[in-house]
Amino acid sequence: MGIVFVTREIVGDALERLRSEHEVVVWGGPLPPTAGELRAEVAGADGLLCMLADRVDRELIDAAPRLRAIANYAVGFDNIDVSAAATRGIAVGVTPDVLTEATADLAFALLLAAARRLPEGMAAVRSGEWRTWEPARWLGADVHGATLGIVGYGRIGQAVARRAAGFEMEVLATHATDLDELLARSDFVSLHCPLTTQTHHLIDARALACMKPTAILINTARGGVVDQVALAAALRDGTIAGAALDVTDPEPLSADDPLLRVPNVIVLPHIGSATLTARSQMTELAVENLLAALTGRPMAHPARA
Ligand code: DGY
Repeated sequence: MGIVFVTREIVGDALERLRSEHEVVVWGGPLPPTAGELRAEVAGADGLLCMLADRVDRELIDAAPRLRAIANYAVGFDNIDVSAAATRGIAVGVTPDVLTEATADLAFALLLAAARRLPEGMAAVRSGEWRTWEPARWLGADVHGATLGIVGYGRIGQAVARRAAGFEMEVLATHATDLDELLARSDFVSLHCPLTTQTHHLIDARALACMKPTAILINTARGGVVDQVALAAALRDGTIAGAALDVTDPEPLSADDPLLRVPNVIVLPHIGSATLTARSQMTELAVENLLAALTGRPMAHPARA
């Protein structure tokens, strides 16, 4: 029996399976543990079940001499120093597949919401500004038949492409089309690549300048893929028409961030995988990963750099 520290309360029954074999300590706070609190909690832990908001860096790993397994409650793992973990022989696992469709649904919801200006319409209804049927107001962009550029054609990118087929969109994706060409031809650009040193600020001022002035950028990947200062400027000066973001850098975005003062942007609090089904299955996979690694078996879903 080992000790497993879980950094937030999570949904689903699978934690019970973990409890039947290990002592499980769940952080009960409404906010994640601070770096210091996390260091203190992992000091005696054999396993860690952590969120993407938890920075698992070399310093933390060094502070956890017994740690043998890290299960990230996410498919992305840019919050974890996997090479520091590998040096110590600590297995790192993720939760792939189970959140693909939920995240693709959200990417499409953002695409539609930004294209058809849903937040503005709703705000007008709530504020009493809706006085009559408007023949020339709240005009949005056509989604049906438009061109969608998908940056990162992995599981989620492909799931978004399947949805786009229903809207008879032309789909361009980075596995087959050069990024600059994709940016120049797309009416919507949806980001689905992991955050790595290669993709950090992949969408910068130069990339934004390649896009059509009518284009809309959707990001459900990681905030760091986009240079947000350049994005705010591009939205203000009309380089692109809009952006819809489920992810930002940092998270949470401060309520006085300049990006939130730009009118043509939608920002959500990183809810791509936030369905009960997806989150319960993420718990299952994280628990499977921990149970395997803590008994010396390989994780079924290891993080692959
Ligand atoms: C992930 O799994 O990486 C998502 O961003 C969390 O929903």
